[in-house]
Amino acid sequence: MQPNTPAAFVHTRTTHPTAKAAREAVFANPGFGKYYSDHMVAIDWDAEHDWHGARVTPYAPLTLDPASLVLHYAQAVFEGLKAYRHADGSIWTFRPKVNAQRFSHSAERLGLPELPHDLFIQSLKELVQLDCDWVPSAVESSLYLRPFMIANENSLSVRGADQVAYYVIGSPAGPYFSSGVTPVPIWVSTQRTRAARGGTGYAKCAGNYAGSLAPLKEARKNGCPQVLFLDSEHGQYLEELGGMNIFVVQKDGSLITPALSDSILPGVTRASVIELARSEGRTVHERPISLTEVRDGLASKQITELFACGTAALIFPISALKSEEFSYGNDSAVAGPVTLALRQQLLDIQYGRTADTRNWMLRLA
Ligand code: COI
Repeated sequence: MQPNTPAAFVHTRTTHPTAKAAREAVFANPGFGKYYSDHMVAIDWDAEHDWHGARVTPYAPLTLDPASLVLHYAQAVFEGLKAYRHADGSIWTFRPKVNAQRFSHSAERLGLPELPHDLFIQSLKELVQLDCDWVPSAVESSLYLRPFMIANENSLSVRGADQVAYYVIGSPAGPYFSSGVTPVPIWVSTQRTRAARGGTGYAKCAGNYAGSLAPLKEARKNGCPQVLFLDSEHGQYLEELGGMNIFVVQKDGSLITPALSDSILPGVTRASVIELARSEGRTVHERPISLTEVRDGLASKQITELFACGTAALIFPISALKSEEFSYGNDSAVAGPVTLALRQQLLDIQYGRTADTRNWMLRLA
């Protein structure tokens, strides 16, 4: 145990646990991020006492002073993981150490304290063990875990907080897109970017998502469920979707994905797709890819598939890239074989249907 890891979490169980029938009604149509399990994790930090007060409590609203730093200067970071129920009833998560590491990098960028990685992982276990009944067992369903850290110090001065809190909440999730694995059109934000060199793009911080919301509104107005951002310097190169990375599949079976930079979030699913693809002999290029290259590649059929990936949505195929000025691709495209095969491989690992040869899975309960 690291020196600043609290010895034990204090558990306070809810006196109003959700009835089985009500939970099952939620499981019948969980959607994404609509319902929450009965408990939550909380841990406090301050400059004097470091991390302390680790506890699991009934899920409840937070009390925040209106002058809390997070409400004014967005000093907040978060993570996303899933708890998967395997056929034998055990509950697992996928590569949590990578999330713990990214959480540290995000916190550092936002001037927040770093949470010890073993405490991050312990916090997931604590919540899932108490709320194990909240992990659904239907196909492709899971309990989405949302660890987050906020500056809850009461101050309006612009500086890193001396008091913060870390929480984990859990939300039962079905498939992210209600339409299933059907290719969807993506709106390209040609005027507004997500992140710039030296900025916070590589961090999973609340502000990055806030900045993606007006472009997302525009996307939805134009019939696209997600938005793709281009690089801020040239306005030409693909970066990422509001909350997902992007891949291009070429006709020789190789993959291209934008190289990581300080303006792209290092996705856990992105890293896993690269590893799986390479280990089955595919070439994966991590390099800049321009909109022009995608346009020409789709037209010449050099590019055969496009897909996006992230924890919440896993992998979904993209039918076309659209903006006010252009539409590349084909609205009636069907999901491509490489996209579907990679998706299936990941699902099989996550749901314990195939050997976990890379030690990616960690048992939570
Ligand atoms: C994830 O896939 O975990 C994401 O980051 C998307 C999320 C913000 C809903």
